[in-house]
Amino acid sequence: MPSGALTASYIAASILFILSLGGLSHQEKARRGNVYGIVGMAIAIFATIASDQVSNLGVIIVMMLIGGTIGAVVAVRVQMTQMPQLVAILHSFVGLAAVLVGFATYVDPTMHFEGVEATIHNVEIYLGVLIGAVTFTGSVIAFGKLQGVIMSKPLLLPARHWINLAAGLACIWLGSWFLDAESAGTGVMVLTIMTLIAFAFGVHMVMAIGGADMPVVISMLNSYSGWAAAATGFMLSNDLLIITGALVGSSGAILSYIMCRAMNRRFVSVIMGGFGTTTGGGSSTEAGEVQATTAEEVAEMLKSAKEVVIVPGYGMAVAQAQHTVSDVTQRLRDAGVKVRFGIHPVAGRMPGHMNVLLAEARVPYDIVLEMDEINADLDRTDVVLIIGANDIVNPSAQEDPDSPIAGMPVLEVWRAGTVVVSKRSMATGYAGVDNPLFYKDNTRMLFGDARESVESILACLI
Ligand code: TAP
Repeated sequence: MPSGALTASYIAASILFILSLGGLSHQEKARRGNVYGIVGMAIAIFATIASDQVSNLGVIIVMMLIGGTIGAVVAVRVQMTQMPQLVAILHSFVGLAAVLVGFATYVDPTMHFEGVEATIHNVEIYLGVLIGAVTFTGSVIAFGKLQGVIMSKPLLLPARHWINLAAGLACIWLGSWFLDAESAGTGVMVLTIMTLIAFAFGVHMVMAIGGADMPVVISMLNSYSGWAAAATGFMLSNDLLIITGALVGSSGAILSYIMCRAMNRRFVSVIMGGFGTTTGGGSSTEAGEVQATTAEEVAEMLKSAKEVVIVPGYGMAVAQAQHTVSDVTQRLRDAGVKVRFGIHPVAGRMPGHMNVLLAEARVPYDIVLEMDEINADLDRTDVVLIIGANDIVNPSAQEDPDSPIAGMPVLEVWRAGTVVVSKRSMATGYAGVDNPLFYKDNTRMLFGDARESVESILACLI
């Protein structure tokens, strides 16, 4: 492919990626946004393969077939509730690729740079490997925490800030040594030492972050993977990879900011770790009885209500109850009840998790409101129906300054007339914090799997 056609293809792909990001920020246009992204990626891959940058087409095609098959099988098999883990492990691949490309580029005998150009090239390699290595191990640990194979409780080593500072200073010192290295052998050795330190730093950084901060970690690693891809683009002189990496890096950074605001946290505090420490049940649990209810009673309450707000959480995703919830919503609306949804920014296990599920179940977009939009209306809401949510409706975030989630904005559901909580037991949510909401006078517990409970409610509404 001539270089002009390659440039034109890369520009077209870049525009499609920007349109894709724009589409993904609105539920109505998200599907179209995905299509733009797929077409952009197809153009990018085809143009790169057809360019003279590729010397061994056979190997590329075989590797694409192997990778594509693995990707397709995993994507078909993965449950919606496992998407965050999948995203985390995919981020780790981007990080590892940046590390491998960095080493390969450094020892590539065909690359000859002199003077300032050589310095710039080596800076690109060093930064790319550094960011890639932190992204790789950080994402693997995030995967482990989300999958439940590593405890979500933060690991707080006594001198952890000093360890991080020492690692940072060592990387700076090694960087200057790397740039002054007189032989490729010394350069590879220094790069290897820095990579090992960065691997350890990535592990330590994410291990120190508590369960309640995981939303920020996911978006932060998303951002890092973008910067790692952009650094790889600089190493390979590939403009499209630079643009794509910068888009992912900056959108991930904006998402991290939004997540921090949603949790009322400062980004630096998240990196410092420790938030959401499990207290072993020693938080503000109020002694008292919970009041259990039945699907029949809940159906009666909903039928006689004027305004109902449904708050979905992770349990709705686990139970795959969204379609039945949608049917209940439709039935109530047909009966003249005003039904709306209140969505917390970190409900579920990934950004936009609840919005995706509700869109899949064809819940109208205009009745799905953000936490800030719905909180003011909860006073005059007759019934709030909580489906598998816990941390995002926990009043101790506001009422108990010693709570591990103190200060995190929550949906103030207890201000409604009656609160119904559908969950299986009295177990805590992801942050491991007890929830005094369950003991309030106006709360009724509907125990059982969310899907079965909502199906029973639906049956009583017919
Ligand atoms: P959680 O606080 O995790 O609570 C979910 C509740 O659902 C659990 O208490 C569980 O109680 C219940 N549940 C589980 N399976 C169920 C089923 N089949 N039927 C009925 N209930 C079921 O969820 P949340 O309120 O959505 O809050 C999200 C939490 O995850 C926050 O702490 C947030 O920081 C964290 N987090 C979020 C993200 C993003 S980006 N959204 C990423 C990582 C972590 P039972 O076991 O008693 O049923």
